[in-house]
Amino acid sequence: MTDDAIRNYPELAALVGDWPKFLQPILNAQTLSGKQIVVTGAGDGIGKALAKTLACLGANVILLGRTRSKLETVFDWINQHTNTDPVIVPCDLARLDGTTVATLVESIRSHYGGLHGLVHNASMLGPKVPIAHYPVEQWQAVMQTNVNAVFMLNQGLFELLDASYHSCVIHVSSTVGQQGRAYWGAYSASKFALEGLNQILADETETAGKIRVYSINPGGTRTAMRREAYPLEDPTTLPTPEQHMSLFVFLLAGSLLPGSIARELPTTGAQLDARNWQE
Ligand SMILES: NC(=O)c1ccc[n+]([C@@H]2O[C@H](COP(=O)([O-])OP(=O)(O)OC[C@H]3O[C@@H](n4cnc5c(N)ncnc54)[C@H](OP(=O)(O)O)[C@@H]3O)[C@@H](O)[C@H]2O)c1
Repeated sequence: MTDDAIRNYPELAALVGDWPKFLQPILNAQTLSGKQIVVTGAGDGIGKALAKTLACLGANVILLGRTRSKLETVFDWINQHTNTDPVIVPCDLARLDGTTVATLVESIRSHYGGLHGLVHNASMLGPKVPIAHYPVEQWQAVMQTNVNAVFMLNQGLFELLDASYHSCVIHVSSTVGQQGRAYWGAYSASKFALEGLNQILADETETAGKIRVYSINPGGTRTAMRREAYPLEDPTTLPTPEQHMSLFVFLLAGSLLPGSIARELPTTGAQLDARNWQE
């Protein structure tokens, strides 16, 4: 059974009926009520779909991204269709510094009092050129956005996540983070590093058992980044961002609300493919 907010999100509403049976009981506007979740890159693509989906389930979403106008559009939609308390955090992760992280931590602490989820979804593709010709400045910008900022946010927000009894960190990765491919340069290297961060954080938090950590590979998805990587591809042949939401909801709701879903979560640190996670 769906709720009003999901009905107002037709791209998602058309899909939830086919979500696995074990997710159906949590498809309501109260499931994630009182839970705060940071989504980076929340203004577009997969991050935008995720922010709206989580708000439909009652979460207060902290919308972090580069372009203020895009974040405002998502913020306005959430305010119009849900009873949640979103905030926008305009921030270029390529320039993230300790002061900005400290301000973010303090704002979350004072406004909400706690944090339960962190989804590292933002990333830069960078140029698709051979290593021999890869511009150093662009290499550094991609690594800064896709790896260093993830490390800094994980470090800065750790205390808040750890203070919540159950919390979850998700790293959005890529197929080229598992197998290097010619011309994918810094993007591919950054996703390998992201997989490393995922495994390290999972290993460090497993014994305490409070924070669950996952990596999701969405695979080719109908977004601006995919168009930039494959300009000649027919986008209608690709899944939409909404088609990946069931996996994000399973991992986040399952981690934040143990016992709410009648299916065991994957081991912390697992790497999941959004296209075939139910197989
Ligand atoms: N689409 C695919 O086929 C595919 C495949 C495998 C993995 N992925 C991964 O899925 C995730 C989401 O990608 P997507 O396809 O949804 O891409 P997208 O539509 O281009 O969205 C990426 C988002 O990240 C934000 N972002 C980029 N650089 C940023 C920075 N320096 N600081 C803050 N925000 C920044 C963008 O902000 P602006 O809109 O303001 O630029 C945008 O909102 C990425 O991690 C990507 O690597 C995607």
